[in-house]
Amino acid sequence: MEGLLHPVSIGNLKLDGNVFLAPIAGYTDKIFRSICLRHGADLAYTEMVSSEGVARDSEKTVMLMERGEGERNLAVQLFMPDADTAKRSITGVMAYNPAMIDINAGCPVPKVVKTGAGSALLKDPKTIREIVSVLVENTNVPVTIKIRTGWDVEGINYLETAQAAFDGGASAVCMHARTRSQLYMPTADWSRLKDLKLHFPEKVIIGSGDLFCAQDGARMLEETGIDAIMFARGAIGNPFVFEQAKAMMQGKQPHEPTIQEKKEAIIEHLHGLVGFLGENAACREMRKHVCAYLKGIPNSAKVRQAATTALTVKAYEEALDLLQLT
Ligand SMILES: Cc1cc2nc3c(=O)[nH]c(=O)nc-3n(C[C@H](O)[C@H](O)[C@H](O)COP(=O)(O)O)c2cc1C
Repeated sequence: MEGLLHPVSIGNLKLDGNVFLAPIAGYTDKIFRSICLRHGADLAYTEMVSSEGVARDSEKTVMLMERGEGERNLAVQLFMPDADTAKRSITGVMAYNPAMIDINAGCPVPKVVKTGAGSALLKDPKTIREIVSVLVENTNVPVTIKIRTGWDVEGINYLETAQAAFDGGASAVCMHARTRSQLYMPTADWSRLKDLKLHFPEKVIIGSGDLFCAQDGARMLEETGIDAIMFARGAIGNPFVFEQAKAMMQGKQPHEPTIQEKKEAIIEHLHGLVGFLGENAACREMRKHVCAYLKGIPNSAKVRQAATTALTVKAYEEALDLLQLT
């Protein structure tokens, strides 16, 4: 496992390590990103941000790009159907001083795909090249893209879409090793990541798909030879996974968080959200996170039930006091 953890440069962005937090809509807000960065993530992406919304200066959209506490390198992920929309969003995006811009070419949600954005771009490599090049020409930050292997099994075309992105000047390609039709099941096909790296040995390739624990992260790097990995569902309720993966990648025994440490992480997360959203909205937003944090903790059903109806920090803390710490 040793030698898997190393610095990585994405264009002019130099990162100390190669373990990232993926863009996850509804989860990777500035609070969760900061927590993951503190637990060892080397880069954390915003959730997908609408270029159209940025161009219109929609308040709800631009708040997604707010920098988290201690977030040195902000990676903003944008979605758009074409180069013109990308171009109209540049001033708005650059106002947030990102260290990197990533393009979403993988979102399978019909509402997004219908507009020509997200994984609809997989069918249109020419537009991919145009979007990348307009962002490269009009910004001074590295531009990357996150693709899937293709639209469906008949349409597997990642070599073509990656080539289009590199032709446009992309500094890295991230691939979720599933097709659009597969959504999030069945198992991701990591052999596609290995193949992508073999075709572009000089380029930075980032891998995504089925990284649920530290071992998965180390194994993806070892089996595929890619440059960096990103945790998505595996990080929800488990920000510890970054330091654990990095320990494994150095041949060390990862630390298993205690229930007390998990409890502290939940409280820290909740307090962060309160500062960001206000108490009521934060308590509601925290519900999905708390269920994930509590997963696997014995006898936590009662706690989960109490936490998911709590509307104040005090009620949350009382619910968490029900946790058996040993
Ligand atoms: C709820 C959810 C939201 C997601 N949102 C985004 C997103 O905004 N942008 C993106 O590129 N990928 C998004 N993804 C995909 C993840 O970044 C990742 O590529 C995918 O979940 C595969 O990794 P995993 O199997 O390790 O979870 C999302 C995935 C999930 C489950």
